[in-house]
Order: sequence, then structure tokens, then C-alpha cells
Amino acid sequence: MSVITSVVGRRVWDSRGNPTVEVEVKLESGAFGRAIAPAGASRGDREVTDLRDGGSALRGMDVSKAVQNVENLIAPKIIGLPAHDQRGVDEAIFSLDPSPLKTSLGGNASVAASLAVLHGGAADKGMALWAYVADLYGCTPSLPLPEIQIFGGGAHAGRRVDIQDFMVMVPGASSFDEVLEITNEIYFAAGDIMAARGKLAGVADEGGWWPLFDSNEEALETLMAAIEKAGEVPGERVVISLDIAASEFGKDGRYRLALEDRELGQEAFIELLGRWIEAYPIVSIEDPLGEDDAEGMQAFTQQFGDRVQIIGDDFLVTNAGLIQQAVEAKACNAVLVKVNQAGSVSEAVDAFQAANRVGWGGVVSARSGETEDVSIAHLAVGLGAGQLKVGSFTRSERMAKWNECLRIQDELGTDLFVSGQPLAATWWGKKNLK
Ligand code: PGA
Ligand code: ZN
Repeated sequence: MSVITSVVGRRVWDSRGNPTVEVEVKLESGAFGRAIAPAGASRGDREVTDLRDGGSALRGMDVSKAVQNVENLIAPKIIGLPAHDQRGVDEAIFSLDPSPLKTSLGGNASVAASLAVLHGGAADKGMALWAYVADLYGCTPSLPLPEIQIFGGGAHAGRRVDIQDFMVMVPGASSFDEVLEITNEIYFAAGDIMAARGKLAGVADEGGWWPLFDSNEEALETLMAAIEKAGEVPGERVVISLDIAASEFGKDGRYRLALEDRELGQEAFIELLGRWIEAYPIVSIEDPLGEDDAEGMQAFTQQFGDRVQIIGDDFLVTNAGLIQQAVEAKACNAVLVKVNQAGSVSEAVDAFQAANRVGWGGVVSARSGETEDVSIAHLAVGLGAGQLKVGSFTRSERMAKWNECLRIQDELGTDLFVSGQPLAATWWGKKNLK
């Protein structure tokens, strides 16, 4: 039987050394599921919030209240429910806190419980999680194209540079394996270049090199040099992807680039990004404008939506309703899917499907605070999302996800790798127009 018989909460620790919530569920059949909540640093204002204890101990980051909510509220509510009814379970969890941001229950409590039930359901059926997800949501599984960070910035690197993620994608690779091989060469080439300039200073929160640059554009130039040093021609097999995370330095349509000591209005900032799109092989840009700047997002999409993927992260917070509005407003053309922004598996899948229905890309994503939990690798494969973003190419909380994809590749076969040709074709198309 697939009925949930026990739910246990536990405090564990994430990749930044902060407390986080782990949940374990058991089913009547003996099946077991476990999941851990991740945590963001550049969080969207409209995403579900983590419940933290506050106060001075553990810098206010403790999660004892959230763990208590798992044991005292979530457990009695979902024990006795069938684990295969993921939506029923998620609705029961959310009924405990009808507030939109789940402030009293805690998104960290709800997401760990929801994902643990998903794992329990898969175990009950004796299926790999990715296969169970594909089955549950009627999706065709595939191996995603990774977006991998080379330099970290923004809130993940003490705001040393303003832009948050300088990433590569390898749309010209023929397998997931090959993406990782090429990324390894680029990652270490970038480190060698930084070392030669005396600018090597460790790594940022997601494992990308610490950005000891004098301008944001220097990071882009260095990324180009690293791609070349790795023996690749930028814009051929390897392209660039940026997460601007503009909400971190933009407010009311004004964008303050602290590193360069200048502030740009919405139009001037869009113009700057436009120059970068012209000058570098950029195929994807996330949160180019602030989460409060819907008008800017619309203007940016109108100007560049035919040649780059424009992803809403903080702007859409994995919320089907906000995606619907953005589709109508023609703001963005893709969505980042973070389960903990939505607070439950069902809500995250609703968001993914809302985007998917209108032909938008969906990028399943980790948070900057991560753990050994690899659920998102399975979600990306099971939903057939096509893209996966988990940070850089070091640190085990990141590598665990890439490595899990390699294991899934062995089960699925390399043929189901989603090449990025369609995505990169936008860039190549633009180049050919010239
Ligand atoms: P976060 O950032 O996990 O720190 O919120 C990740 C991202 O912006 O994609
Ligand atoms: Zn982002």
C-alpha cells in the first residue's frame, strides 16, 4: 500500500553551512523517501519564504520552528494519505498556511515534505525518481542541456561584480558527457587566466571563480578568453549565458552598477545589455531587469526576444499565475523552475507546464545554498525540461547533480540528450543575418 505512515523532520546543514530542513517519509509498503530544502540568496520578493528562527544564535538562520512544523503540523495532516496523489498531499500541506508566501508554515518545511513524498512514491513503485516523475506528469524524459557557471558574482560573491552568473552552455555537444568535458577545460582555463593575472581568489557560493574584476565586462572578456584557451571558438560549440539577477541592484527602473560606480536608467541599462548581446555569443539572459520592472522586461523582450532566451527567475518565481501574466504581456520567453520558490512539487510543475504550453523554455534550477539532494536532476529529466542550471563545476553540492545526470544517462542512453541547437540557432541565425 502506498499510504504515508510516518513523517520525520530533521535539521541538517547546507553548502553555505546554514541550517536547513530535511524530511523523511515512510509508506505502509515500507517504501522510504527523503529530501532536503535548498536556500536562495538572491531571492525573489514574491517567492515562498523559508521559516527561520531569527534571534542571534546561528545568525538567526536556525530552522527549529520549520522542523517543528513538519512534525506537528505536516505529519498529522498527510499521514494516511496515498503518496501517489502528489497533488492531494501538496494541497493538504498548503492548507496548513493559506498565506501566499507560506510565512507561518515555511517554504523550507513544505518543499522538503513535498519532495520527500515524491521520492517515497517512486520508491513504492520501484522506479527511479525521473521515471516516476515522467509517469506522474505524462512527460517524455530527456537529458537536459546544462548551463554551467564559470564566474560567480552578485549576492553569491559579496557583490564583487554586479552581474551574478557568467555561464557557458555547450549546444554543440553531442552528449551530456561531452558538455562536462568541454566545461571542465573552460573552467580550468578560466582559473589559469585569473592565476596568471594574479587575480585568483577562490570560488563563490556556487563554485564559480571569485570575480576579482575591475568591470562587469572584464568578466565577459575573460570568459571569452577562457573558451578560446580551452581550444573552442566562442559562438560555435560553446555559447554564453548570463544571469543578471538585476533585482539585486535595480530598483524602480534604476540600475546601480556598484563596481563601475554608475547608475543607469532602464533604457540605458537595456542598451548596455544589447551591446553585450551584439559583442558576445550570448544565447540566454536571466532576469535582465528587476523583478519590479515589468515594463523594462517587456521592452527587453520586444527588442531581443527573437534572438536570445530571456528567462524569468525572480520575475516569475516559479508561479503559474505570474507566468500567465508575463505570457500575456510578452515579457520573457522562458522560465526558471525552482521547486522551493513555489513551495511544493505540484506548484512547481504547474509553473513548468504553464510555460511549456505556450512554447516557453523551462530551466530547472538549483539554489545558491544546496546540499547532496539530487531531486532536481530527476525533475529536469522526468519533466523533459531540456535545460538544467545547478551552478558551477566544483563543489560536491553542484557536482552531485551533474553526476546524477550521468547515472541517469546510463539508464536512458545518450540519444535522449537535448542538444542546444534550437536555442543556439537564435544566435547563429543572428550572426548569419549580418
Ligand atoms: P539564489 O540565486 O539561489 O541565490 O536565489 C540563484 C539564481 O538567481 O538563479
Ligand atoms: Zn537567477
